[in-house]
Amino acid sequence: MRRILITGAGRGIGLGLVHRLVADGHQVYGTARSEQGRSAILAAGAAGAVDLDLEHDASISACAAAIGEQTDAIDTLINNAGMNSLALGASRDTQGPLQADKSVVLKQIEINAIGPMLLTQRVHPLLTAGTNPIVLNLSSQLGSMVVGGKLPRDVGYNASKSVMNMVTVMSATADPQVSYVAIHPGWVQSDMGGPAAAVTVEDSVQGIVTVLDGLTIADTGRFLTWEGDDHPW
Ligand SMILES: NC(=O)c1ccc[n+]([C@@H]2O[C@H](COP(=O)([O-])OP(=O)(O)OC[C@H]3O[C@@H](n4cnc5c(N)ncnc54)[C@H](OP(=O)(O)O)[C@@H]3O)[C@@H](O)[C@H]2O)c1
Repeated sequence: MRRILITGAGRGIGLGLVHRLVADGHQVYGTARSEQGRSAILAAGAAGAVDLDLEHDASISACAAAIGEQTDAIDTLINNAGMNSLALGASRDTQGPLQADKSVVLKQIEINAIGPMLLTQRVHPLLTAGTNPIVLNLSSQLGSMVVGGKLPRDVGYNASKSVMNMVTVMSATADPQVSYVAIHPGWVQSDMGGPAAAVTVEDSVQGIVTVLDGLTIADTGRFLTWEGDDHPW
């Protein structure tokens, strides 16, 4: 049994992870911004559901404090929450590197990369009190120079996942106590991926959990796919 904290757990891949990891017998805590999301997390059998908006520092601190009141340790932090520029009101025509707004790009980096980094900092004492502690960062193939650099649609999103990848590797270098791994979940049929996506939430979750179950400190600093292969940077 592991004690697992999952961000953005009220829908999509995050909620799929809650269902699966609860069924596997783990003690799961989920975060969501809305009451509806927190209800979905609790309905899936989680031990707790906490408010978290990664846009706001105070919310990140309050979330870490609330989790600390519910458990003495976290064995796994899954930084799953994320958004693209469409969620910030940008259109397909205004997302690219030659058109994008500074504020939209910075907001995506703030929410997708810096917020998860700060949450990791704030729950770090809980992680070091855990067993085989792991931080699994839901990155994307679009954060890869090799893949994302050739798909210049949403510069804020791709750049934010590149930042998340850099934070993952630097954390791995800086901290020998916790295993930091970035993972690409596939192109998934969530609200973000859309109905035409190649992979169901259930199959992505199955792959992510299989990867997660095998992770140790020896894997720190890796970037993996949901199928367990090394992803190019
Ligand atoms: N779907 C894909 O094809 C795909 C591909 C590669 C990577 N990913 C990554 O996988 C992760 C999960 O994506 P998904 O497909 O499940 O997306 P989704 O269905 O759109 O869900 C996004 C989740 O992130 C949360 N979130 C958004 N902004 C937030 C904020 N400011 N603070 C806290 N939580 C916030 C949402 O919470 P609310 O319900 O409160 O909005 C929601 O729970 C993301 O990091 C995404 O970038 C997805």
